[in-house]
Amino acid sequence: AENMLWGGRFTQGLDPLMVQYNTSLPYDRVFWKQDIAGSIAFARANTNSGLLTPHEFAEIERGFKQIAQEWQSNTFVAKENDEDIHTANERRLGEIIGKEIGGKLHTGRSRNEQIATDMRLWLRDELRLIEKHLCDLIKVSIARAENDIAYLMPGYTHLQKAQPVRWSHWILSHATAFASELERLREVIRRVNKSPLGTGALAGNCFNIDREAMAKELGFDGLLYNSMNAVADRDFAMETMQWGSSFMLKISRWAEDLIIYSCLEFGFVRLSDAYSTGSSLMPQKKNADSLELLRGKAGRAFGQMAGLMCTIKGLPTTYNKDLQESVEPMLDHVKTVSDSIQIATGVLSTLTVNPEKMVAALAPEMLATEIADYLVRKGVPFREGHHISGRVVALAENTNVPMDTLTLQQLQEIDARFGADVQTCLDYERAVELKDAIGGTSKRAVLEQTAVLKKLL
Ligand code: ARG
Repeated sequence: AENMLWGGRFTQGLDPLMVQYNTSLPYDRVFWKQDIAGSIAFARANTNSGLLTPHEFAEIERGFKQIAQEWQSNTFVAKENDEDIHTANERRLGEIIGKEIGGKLHTGRSRNEQIATDMRLWLRDELRLIEKHLCDLIKVSIARAENDIAYLMPGYTHLQKAQPVRWSHWILSHATAFASELERLREVIRRVNKSPLGTGALAGNCFNIDREAMAKELGFDGLLYNSMNAVADRDFAMETMQWGSSFMLKISRWAEDLIIYSCLEFGFVRLSDAYSTGSSLMPQKKNADSLELLRGKAGRAFGQMAGLMCTIKGLPTTYNKDLQESVEPMLDHVKTVSDSIQIATGVLSTLTVNPEKMVAALAPEMLATEIADYLVRKGVPFREGHHISGRVVALAENTNVPMDTLTLQQLQEIDARFGADVQTCLDYERAVELKDAIGGTSKRAVLEQTAVLKKLL
């Protein structure tokens, strides 16, 4: 271990399995760019404070340019003792510019601040991309809602036919939930994008480094103000996964609805071939794998969030190696969420709607509330109107006819206040258009919702 970066006080090498167990380079190499940017900012700050000469800085920058080039072109050669991205980059820097100058880079710096910096920089950029993908999903939802505004379908509670609604209203019910996630995500990004750089191992930097200047160079939006917290904190990863879990929960409910609507018994929508797969045995099958994976991957995302919280819970304060375990779940979580949003957008923009099937699924009983409301307009208290309408439903059920084929005479036998104009209630389009208060399913109210969503994008 003497030739490890930290090897001075060691006399024995690491156990071979311990080497594997300890190394994070196989996954934290994705931070190569952030690690280099952080190192250059750090060296620049130490140059401005007189700790490094301009020549030394130029050498360090030259070295890192070459290293970046190597990572970029996939020619960076990792060595046995490269524990992580930080040691790998620093080792290589020494090889390129010589140990005399290369060995000065790490003055006053700790890998504890480095990993926190790298992860935050990486996450910030990824979350900004995810923000864009999420806006696209909402945009596609809006476009679909506007385009398909004419289609009516059954709205469900308890998965029982409840009241007719516009298909667009269903789309926007989910888009509105996604919009809440968009607002939350923007909050998360704000907190992720704070700089821990210049806080040392835990106690702070003793060479009076200009933390503000480094933060500015790296595009951070402010500093972490307590050095012990700066190296201990994994809120940025935890909050990201809490956010991602919340989003996946919502997209899985969206997916579940579409799985139901796409099965033959419903047939409201048909998935594009691009997002379905077949059966190796049953030639007729077309399965909604994309939607099932969206639903399934939600479980994986929750597990990663819970896993990290369990890892951090009860850790003694500041850095412990346990924190390295925050990297892999975070990387996978971010990819899972990012892919899921894009898949969902693809599914929604390519699916075919079958409005005839939607209308065919409407049942006259779904207008029972309209009959109660009809009586209300005649001055009957709603509770009584509800009861009378219930008897109308029961009569249809007991005589085994659709509710809208009952005669006026039959209705009047139930309650004398029914008039010939009751017929007007038995119209799905009318029922939908009557729901015109803000947030309802009338055409006007639905289009108003798209306008509200557009303001967020
Ligand atoms: N690879 C480490 C991690 O991901 C970097 C920090 C190492 N620090 C330390 N004191 N060993 O957490």
